[in-house]
Amino acid sequence: MGSVVLTMKASVIEMFLVLLVTGVQSNKEMTKKIKRPKFTVPQINCDVKAGKIINPEFVVKCPAGCQDPRYHVYGTDVYASYSSVCGAAVHSGVLDNSGGKILVRKVAGQSGYKGSYSNGVQSLSLPRWRESFVVSEGKPQKGVTYPSALTYSSSKSPAAKAGETTETYPKPSVPGTTAQPVTRMQVLGPSPAGTAQSSLPKPSLSAGSPTSSLRPQPVGHRSWERDRWSTTTYVSRQKNPRATAGIQRQDSPGAAFQKSAGVPVSLGFVPKEELSTQSSEPVSQGDPNCKVDLSFLIDGSSSIGKRRFRIQKQFLTDVAQALDIGPAGPLMGVVQYGDNPATQFNLKTHMNSWDLKTAIEKITQRGGLSNVGRAISSVTKNFFSKANGNRGAAPNVAVVMVDGWPTDKVEEASRLARESGINIFFITIEGAAEKEKQYVVEPNFSNKAVCRTNGFYSLNVQSWLSLHKTVQPLVKRVCDTDRLACSKTCLNSADIGFVIDGSSSVGTGNFRTVLQFVANLSREFEISDTDTRIGAVQYTYEQRLEFGFDQYSSKPDILNAIKRVGYWSGGTSTGAAINYALEQLFKKSKPNKRKLMILITDGRSYDDVRIPAITAHHQGVITYAIGVAWAALDELDIIATHPAKDHSFFVDEFDHLYKFVPKVIQNICTEFNSQPRN
Ligand SMILES: *[C@@H]1O[C@H](CO)[C@@H](O)[C@H](O)[C@H]1NC(C)=O
Ligand SMILES: *[C@@H]1O[C@H](CO)[C@@H](O)[C@H](O)[C@H]1NC(C)=O
Repeated sequence: MGSVVLTMKASVIEMFLVLLVTGVQSNKEMTKKIKRPKFTVPQINCDVKAGKIINPEFVVKCPAGCQDPRYHVYGTDVYASYSSVCGAAVHSGVLDNSGGKILVRKVAGQSGYKGSYSNGVQSLSLPRWRESFVVSEGKPQKGVTYPSALTYSSSKSPAAKAGETTETYPKPSVPGTTAQPVTRMQVLGPSPAGTAQSSLPKPSLSAGSPTSSLRPQPVGHRSWERDRWSTTTYVSRQKNPRATAGIQRQDSPGAAFQKSAGVPVSLGFVPKEELSTQSSEPVSQGDPNCKVDLSFLIDGSSSIGKRRFRIQKQFLTDVAQALDIGPAGPLMGVVQYGDNPATQFNLKTHMNSWDLKTAIEKITQRGGLSNVGRAISSVTKNFFSKANGNRGAAPNVAVVMVDGWPTDKVEEASRLARESGINIFFITIEGAAEKEKQYVVEPNFSNKAVCRTNGFYSLNVQSWLSLHKTVQPLVKRVCDTDRLACSKTCLNSADIGFVIDGSSSVGTGNFRTVLQFVANLSREFEISDTDTRIGAVQYTYEQRLEFGFDQYSSKPDILNAIKRVGYWSGGTSTGAAINYALEQLFKKSKPNKRKLMILITDGRSYDDVRIPAITAHHQGVITYAIGVAWAALDELDIIATHPAKDHSFFVDEFDHLYKFVPKVIQNICTEFNSQPRN
């Protein structure tokens, strides 16, 4: 009996216990559910740039090891979105080299970013960038929902839509996206069509029509018009006389031309399918991965002729469609030039590819000369105004189409356009043949008018018949917004201040050698009041300004001024000289210029160089230290911008200084090319 009671008691207790435990557990579940859903923090690699991530605000986890100088950072506190997210976090002190969570917030682009050395990371200066970001500790703020997966923009494939590129973990970005060399092959030029085509990007927009291997089919291009080449008799085109050249430009069918002349050309351009549904499709918002403000300068000169003018218009239509014009993507306006430029429509007149097509069809040829330079100047002054639909946040691009060659000067006009931030592309079609070159106002204008980046900004097309093959290469380049940086090169964009040791130990003869060295370095740059500017300070115990940045604006004047610098002789106060140069030279530097200081000394300083050097670095002055003979290596490394191995040089004797000219130039350009420009 007693045992029965006991057993019962035991089972009751057991039941009670079971109930208790379950209750507690379900209670736990409840509290869990009531709490905010735990969001997973997305992870990124050290090399991921903020600009690649579309989200305006996010919490992200960085791995360890992002302090590495490989991950470039631009700016201080506020960073250009071209910077490594995690690198910037280390630089700003939010993160240490062991990684962790950070909060990233996008902010507006700035007109300048100052580089500095902080927390083991050297950040670089940058003139201007379209977007910035700030980092703080990775504590999610109350009431804010952070994305648990990031949305990446992919500038690689203009066709990709933003929604399709969401990944929880990014692929490591392709190495060398910053300074990727463009090979000759990518430029449509003298290479035979077949070769050029093989290096073209894969058609990404072709409307299901497989590219046939033999027919000259437009690459990745969907045609609206079925009878755009109603005839194959393109051989007998005629060119009108060029007024300035005063000669009849003979039509010598070139090799490429003859090749295609044998093919029934019209065949390749007949679209494979009717696309009558176009107009009923919803209006596109535009390709968000290609947000650029684009001005097309088209050739309306008399010499181009009606037919080629029509091909040009077709090209425009094709480009507009391949770009996918829209308010959230690229916008496009057209300027026709002849004697004078005329804006056909601006950026906001037609905001989708379909409307543009209709508008382009209506353009009529104006005739006259090929005054390209005048048109570029006009575009620089007027086209990219807010009233014309310029969005500010999108890079400005001008594509200049030139049949033959311009009848006026274009280099200077283009330089000013680039200086004002316009990325200029030249497409030259059927350029001057060997015996016509004498009539060209500026030889090689299409390479000189653009920035010197391995042909990225110039496309030479052999024949109007092959112009359609340029659609995809052009679209790819125009949309590669990371690389749109046409306005600056390493040789035309700096304010360079020489700080020259004139102490007694140098001696008259060696001082002349130093001046020669300064002159030889200066000679390498493009010098003008809008390109590179040069200034010089000489120092002993004291300092004096030999000439400032705004004193001379041509290379001969600069070289003469250097020659005239008189040897001072005295002590060596290098620290004071750096301060003086900051005050007297670099304070007067233009805001968008790279500031370079090149200091040449032959001995140890009497005063402290550390604080003046840090000040220089903080002010974004990239400092090169060149020591000769008795110069102290440790001091050179302190003066030089980090990493010292790239900015500090030692030469055992003055007579060997000349050997370092190419090395110094090379390092200046390498550093420049490792930076983004826009
Ligand atoms: C034009 O460019 C070619 C090759 O790029 C070069 O050989 C030639 O010297 C250049 N001519 C001028 C006048 O700069
Ligand atoms: C400067 O250039 C001239 C001419 O090329 C050369 O003879 C001289 O050795 C160079 N001197 C220095 C110091 O670079």
